[in-house]
Amino acid sequence: MEHLVSPSLLAANFINLESDVNLVNRSDADWLHLDIMDGVFVPNISFGFPVIQAVKKIASKPLDVHLMIVDPDRYLVRFSEAGANILTVQYEACPHLNRTVTEIRNLNMKAGVALNPHTPVSLLKNILPYIDMVLIMTVNPGFGGQLFIKESYNKIAELRKMISDGGYNVLIEVDGGIDTVNAHRLIETGANVLVAGNSIFGSADPVGTIQKLKRLL
Ligand code: DX5
Ligand code: ZN
Repeated sequence: MEHLVSPSLLAANFINLESDVNLVNRSDADWLHLDIMDGVFVPNISFGFPVIQAVKKIASKPLDVHLMIVDPDRYLVRFSEAGANILTVQYEACPHLNRTVTEIRNLNMKAGVALNPHTPVSLLKNILPYIDMVLIMTVNPGFGGQLFIKESYNKIAELRKMISDGGYNVLIEVDGGIDTVNAHRLIETGANVLVAGNSIFGSADPVGTIQKLKRLL
């Protein structure tokens, strides 16, 4: 399948979010990635519902919302009301993951499960039939602009095999330190969705960088 590109708004200009959302609207991007951090699950706080709602009003692409928060079950309805289309929870934050992803799907969102770099993909064996996407964190979550962890390639390959062996319809998203240099190998190894923050918004030509990530130039 053709891979997708999901620019991460965390690296955008927060003084003028509208201009960066419009930039993504007119680019080759498929989704818009929103990172929600609570200062508990990760050592950083990003933004919450008012920002998601405001972005939703002007975004023409589906909102790909990545929750780095403890106890996400408390807020699933609120994220759905705020406009999330794909909702991803961290494996490590969900003791009752099957219930959580079922609830996400019942709210008419696609359900994703994210794995921290140290969490093995083998732990997903019994949840793959119930989800739409796995997000492999390729940095330790919490901050943009970090160095890509190379062990991630092995995790992607292993997960790709689990998904094809089981015949599941599950996307593999990768997030953290992704740029036009490593994108090609990530897709070759089995990733379907590339999240990128700093490599897009920190570049001289963000629309051009999104195009490069999409066309693997
Ligand atoms: C990190 C977030 C990422 C972040 C990626 O915890 O989940 O989505 O925005 O930023 P870059 O692409 O700059 O590593
Ligand atoms: Zn993210």
